[in-house]
Amino acid sequence: MLTYRQGILHLDGRPVPDLAAGLPTPFYAYSLRLVQQRAAAFRQAFPDALVAFALKANRFAPLLHALARAGLGADVVSLGEWRAARAAGFPPARIVVNGNAKSDALLRASIAAGAHSLNLDAVEEIPRIVAAARAVGRPARVALRLNPGLDMHTHPHLQVAAPGSHFGIPPAQWVDAARAVQQARELHLVGLHFHAGSQLTAAQDWHALGRAVREAVQRLQAAGVTVDTVNWGGGLGVTYTDAPDPTPQDLAAVLGPYLEGLGVQGQVFEPGRWLVARAGVLVVRVVQVKHAWGRRFVAVDGGMNALLRPALYGARHRVWPVRAGEPRQPATVVGPNCESADVLAPEVALPADLAPGDLLAVLDAGAYGASMANGYNARPLPREVVVL
Ligand code: LLP
Repeated sequence: MLTYRQGILHLDGRPVPDLAAGLPTPFYAYSLRLVQQRAAAFRQAFPDALVAFALKANRFAPLLHALARAGLGADVVSLGEWRAARAAGFPPARIVVNGNAKSDALLRASIAAGAHSLNLDAVEEIPRIVAAARAVGRPARVALRLNPGLDMHTHPHLQVAAPGSHFGIPPAQWVDAARAVQQARELHLVGLHFHAGSQLTAAQDWHALGRAVREAVQRLQAAGVTVDTVNWGGGLGVTYTDAPDPTPQDLAAVLGPYLEGLGVQGQVFEPGRWLVARAGVLVVRVVQVKHAWGRRFVAVDGGMNALLRPALYGARHRVWPVRAGEPRQPATVVGPNCESADVLAPEVALPADLAPGDLLAVLDAGAYGASMANGYNARPLPREVVVL
C-alpha cells in the first residue's frame, strides 16, 4: 500500500527513497503483500477452479514464487515463461500453454512434463502438436481456443476475441476442430478455452462472454463433443484510478449462472493484470524541468523503455511525487527517449518546486510494466525489487 508519512511516500511501510538508495532508477518496486491478498481473493471466489497467473503480466521470480506457494497455476506463452514458471515451483499439472505461434520447443517441453492443457489456437496447429506428442512419447492435453467474435469495451490493441482477430478458432471451424482433436490418438480433448480481451471492467462484457461460452458449449455438445473444462481466459481489469476495481467475486456472480446445467466439471481462469497491476510502482528520477510553450515538462530517466503502456495504448497512470509538496501545478511527465510518444503522463499535478534529482512514482505499474520494458536508446532494463 502506498501512503505518505511525514511527507515521504512509503510502500508497505518502507520509505521509497530508502529503496532508491540501493538501486539505480528507473526501477520497479512491488508489494508482495498485495499480490498475496489478490491471489487469495481470486482463489476464494473460485475455490474449485485452476487460477493460472498469466506470466506475460509479470515474470519477476519472487512474485512467481509467492503465487505458486498460494496454490495458483501459471499461463505461459513461450519457452522462457515455461521455464520461469517451472523454476518458481508451479507444477506442470497447473500450467496452461497459450499462444498463436507456440514454438516446437515449448510444445515438446510442456507435453513431456504433462502440462494441464495446451490451448489450440488453430486447426493448422493440430499436426504440430501431434508431432510434438509423438516426439516425446506422451499424449497432449488440448483445449480448443474458440473465438466467439465479440466486440468488447476495451482498447483496440487489447481486443482478441473480435471478428477478424488472428487469435483463436473462428465459429465456422469449431466442430471440425473438436472432431479432429478427438480423432487424434496423441491428443486428449480437455475442454474449451476463451479469452475475451484484456482490461475488461464493464459487467456487460462479462455477460456477453458468459452468453457466448454457454452457446458454444451447447453447440459442441449437440455435435457430440464432451466438454469437461471451460477456461475463461484472463481480462479482469483494474481502474487505474482511486475508484475500486471490479472483484473476482463480482466475476463469479456474473459467470456462474452461464454454466448452470451444462455438466461442465472444471473451470480455469488466466488472470494477469488484476493480480499484480496495483502491487507495482515504477520509480523514476527527474532529470530536467523545462518550461516551454506555456507548459512545464518534467523529463525523467525512464519512459517508454521502462513502461510502454502510455505510449502504446494511451494508458493513463497516476504519477505521485515521492516527496510531497504544495502547491501543485500542472506538469507533463516525459521520458528520455527521442520519440514524441515518450510521454509517461500528459497532465498531472505535481509540486511546483519539483527539481532534478527528485523521485516520482508511477502507480499501478505492476502488470505489463517490467515485462514489456525494452532496451530502446540503449538503456538498461529497469531493476525490480519486492517489499516484504
Ligand atoms: N490469457 C490470454 C490468452 C491472454 O492473451 C492474456 C493477455 C491473459 C490471459 C491475461 O490477461 P489479463 O488478465 O492480464 O488481462 N500489454 C497489455 C495487455 C495485453 C494482454 C495480452 N493478453 C497492457 O499493458 O494493457
